[in-house]
Amino acid sequence: MKKQLFSILLAGLLPAWLYAQDNATPTPQWRPVYHFTAAKNWLNDPNGLIYLDGVYHLYYQHNPFENKWGHMSWGHATSKDLLHWNHLPVAIPEIETKDTTTWIFSGSAVLDKHNSSGFGKDGKAPVVAIYTADQPKQQKESQFIAYSNDGGLTYTNYAGNPVVDINKKDFRDPSVIWLEEQHKWLMTVAVPAEHKVQFYASENLKNWQLLSEFGNQGDTRKIWECPSLTPMNVDGNPAKKKWLLMISSGNQDAATGMQYFVGNFDGKTFTNDNKPEDQLFVDYGRTFYAAIPYNNLPDNRRMMIGWLMPFETPTSPWRGQMSIPRDLQLKTTPTGIRLFQQPSAGISTYLQKLPAAKKLQLKPQRINSKELQLSNNKGFSTNAYWADAEFTLATATDFGFKIAESVVVGYNVQRNELYIRDGKDTQHLNIQPVNNRIRLQVLLDRSSVEVFVNDGEKVLTTLIFPDKAATGFSVFAENGEVKLNGLKAWDLGK
Ligand code: FRU
Repeated sequence: MKKQLFSILLAGLLPAWLYAQDNATPTPQWRPVYHFTAAKNWLNDPNGLIYLDGVYHLYYQHNPFENKWGHMSWGHATSKDLLHWNHLPVAIPEIETKDTTTWIFSGSAVLDKHNSSGFGKDGKAPVVAIYTADQPKQQKESQFIAYSNDGGLTYTNYAGNPVVDINKKDFRDPSVIWLEEQHKWLMTVAVPAEHKVQFYASENLKNWQLLSEFGNQGDTRKIWECPSLTPMNVDGNPAKKKWLLMISSGNQDAATGMQYFVGNFDGKTFTNDNKPEDQLFVDYGRTFYAAIPYNNLPDNRRMMIGWLMPFETPTSPWRGQMSIPRDLQLKTTPTGIRLFQQPSAGISTYLQKLPAAKKLQLKPQRINSKELQLSNNKGFSTNAYWADAEFTLATATDFGFKIAESVVVGYNVQRNELYIRDGKDTQHLNIQPVNNRIRLQVLLDRSSVEVFVNDGEKVLTTLIFPDKAATGFSVFAENGEVKLNGLKAWDLGK
């Protein structure tokens, strides 16, 4: 009773961070080693992904005070290699005034090279963040901008906010890019409940004109959030251009997931290349969400980071982690132009430099009912590694990896199905072998598993919560043999 009274007093008088605590048992065994987590407390969507002067900036939806969603602000971290992140102070905090609470919802950041906004200082281009101001008391969402003159560390909100307001409760997640040919900014923003996105153009990031809308195609079972529209080369050919429209909604099996559309954008309107009812998914697991591409990358590179949604998982003192940064490519396939994803090539350079004791390379061999144990080998027992293997199908009906003792990352030959089985739970995707081969890239990081199949033609991401001691790692085949053409693995554990 005394304790309760004390809490009530504290809650009324002192800022939230003094009394909000996470009383859950700490779970260091599930803290990823090479995937980004907030040092402490809640994290969701990546925001304002931007590359500036050799540094990758990662802003993210963050509750600075508690290990649950709320007090939404933009947390901030930077990295030079996309694996090791430097935690920085909150970049854009929530705004509290007498009548209004403004939460800083998702959005993007741009480098305003031409100082079109006039926010530049001393001849230095400003970084401008474009985000959704969520105002729960007014039941309203509108788009705000804020500028930084110190390279993205701190931001000043623009006095003329909002810059886009259509008087709606749900209207969010602006993604802004620079259109070089038109010398204009383009914003893609979601009207979630109406399953549509709107496109706006601006010359100065302050005044925006509605260009057009796109929606009610693909998967419309769930609300649409976190859209992005990106010009892409097809098959690496700069003369062949398509536009990739990604949207967070659902996927074939899960309530949360991402879909994409491939098409053309004529400066005003997006046209879908596929039939309106066709559904294309970014990831087939139930945790990959809210991914957005990086702005300002050199050499036309396209890379995104997504959020791995933690649902009710009891991690502490943090919750939520980011995916591995993924390089994006559009490739022509027999069924049309499709999105391929790979763990960022920038990270591979780091893997090459690891000491020999942290690398494993196996020669071609046949695998049968006797599992090939890898965990005793070279210390791959930390549940934080990458494995990259290619198999040629033979008589086995199933083959793949057993990781963290009991989680199976397998391919079933009869059903052409890649699956992750964790106890009673199975998630899967369908994929055909290429020349009778299946390539599996498995990224395990204590509590996350990302599986890229056949050079990233399809991806399945999930979260797992193994026992501390569950570090088994093996290659298996069932009901026959499979040929392991080669396997490389890198131990990223500490
Ligand atoms: C997606 C989302 C966004 C919103 C943010 C709020 O996960 O709901 O639409 O901007 O999270 O935290």
